[in-house]
Amino acid sequence: MIERLESRLKEIKEKGNYRQIRYIKPQSATRIIYESRQCLNLCSNSYLSLHTHPEIIEAAKEAIETYGVGTCSSRSVSGSIDLYRRLEEEAAAYKRYRRGLIFSNGYLANIGIISTLTERGDVIFSDELNHSSLIHSMRLTKAKKVIYRHRDINDLEDKIKKDKSKGKRFLVTETIFSMDGDIAPLKDIYELKKRYDLNVIIDDAHGTGVFGEKGTGIEEMFGLSGEMDVHMATFGKALGSYGAFALGSDTVIEYLINRARTFMYTTALPPATIASSMKALEIVKKDYSFKKLLWENIGYFRKGLTEAGFNLGDSEGPIIPIVVGEDKKTVKMQEMLLDMGIFLQAIRPPTVPEGTSRLRLTIVKGFTRDDMDYAISCLIKAGREIGLI
Ligand SMILES: Cc1ncc(COP(=O)(O)O)c(C=O)c1O
Repeated sequence: MIERLESRLKEIKEKGNYRQIRYIKPQSATRIIYESRQCLNLCSNSYLSLHTHPEIIEAAKEAIETYGVGTCSSRSVSGSIDLYRRLEEEAAAYKRYRRGLIFSNGYLANIGIISTLTERGDVIFSDELNHSSLIHSMRLTKAKKVIYRHRDINDLEDKIKKDKSKGKRFLVTETIFSMDGDIAPLKDIYELKKRYDLNVIIDDAHGTGVFGEKGTGIEEMFGLSGEMDVHMATFGKALGSYGAFALGSDTVIEYLINRARTFMYTTALPPATIASSMKALEIVKKDYSFKKLLWENIGYFRKGLTEAGFNLGDSEGPIIPIVVGEDKKTVKMQEMLLDMGIFLQAIRPPTVPEGTSRLRLTIVKGFTRDDMDYAISCLIKAGREIGLI
C-alpha cells in the first residue's frame, strides 16, 4: 500500500495540488500569526466574528464548570442533558421549523440525513457543485442519483420529467454554494417541489446568520422559512461555534433519532459547544448589528474588487471566489499574498472542478476599512502580477 500511496502523493505534488496543514496562532477575530508573522485572515467562515465574543466564551466556561468537558457517549446510550433539547428548540424556532436534531457537525448531519431518508427505488436530484459531504452522503444510499447542471432549473426540470424511478423523489442542494458564493434558485426549486412532489433537503451552512432580514438564512431571504422538508445548518460558521442541526417535521426528526447512524453511534458534542451555540443564537436573534456591519463590509470589499477589475462571478454575500484556473498559478498568487501578510488558501481540485482553482476570500464583520483597503491593494498587486486583472 505504502508504495502506491507514495506514487499518488508524487502525482499530487507534480500537479501543484499538494496540501499541507499550515499551523497558525489566532490573535483576534481577524488576525493570526503564521510563521512568526502577523497576517490578516481572509479565509475565516466566522462571518459575524462571533468565535471570540466574550459572552460566548463565558457561556462555554460555565458549561464546563457545570457539566464537565465531555459527554463521553451518544445521547441514545447514556441519556442527554437538557441543554441539547433546548438548543434544538431554539434552532427550530429560529428557522421556523417544527423540530430539530443536533448532529456533531455538518458533514455527519448530511450523511445521516441523506443516507437515512432515501431508499432503493428513490431518486435524488443533486446540483453538480454540491458540497463534498452531500456527494459523500449520496454514495451511502441505494437511491439513484441524478446530477443537474449548477443552479440550472431547466436542466433540473428536464431530468425530473425524464426520470422513471418508482420511489420517492428528493432534491439536494446547498443554499449558498461554499466555494462559489452563488445562491441556489430556491423559489424555482420550491415551485418544482410542489409540481413534482419533490422532498427538498437543503444545506444552509453558509447562509445561516448572514442572509435574510433577521439573518436566519437563505430561506428567509426568499420568503420560504420553514418550507422545505429537511433543513441542515451548522453552528460552526457564522455562529462561531461547532456542530450542526437538522430541522423538519416531528416524523422526520423521530426517524433520524431512530435510524441515522451518524447520530446514534457517535459521542454527543461537549456541553461547552452546545452552550456556545445557544449563546450565539441568543445574540444573533436579538442583535442585528453584527449582520448589519458584516453587510457593510461585504458592500465595501466587493466594490473595491469589482472596480479593480476582478471577476466575482455570480457570488453574493461574504464568499468571494477569485478564480485563477491553473493550480500552480493559484498557489503562486496565494504565496505572493502571504508575503504581504494576507492569509488565505488556494482551493484546488477535488474541492473544485479541474481548471477552476481559486482563492476563496471571505469577508467578516470584524474587518476595519483599513483592513479591507490593505487587502484590496494586495489583491490588486498580486492579481496584476499573475495577469489576472
Ligand atoms: C456547504 C457545507 N455543508 C456542510 C459542511 C460541513 O460542515 P461541518 O464543518 O460542520 O462538518 C460544510 C463545511 O465545512 C459546508 O461548507
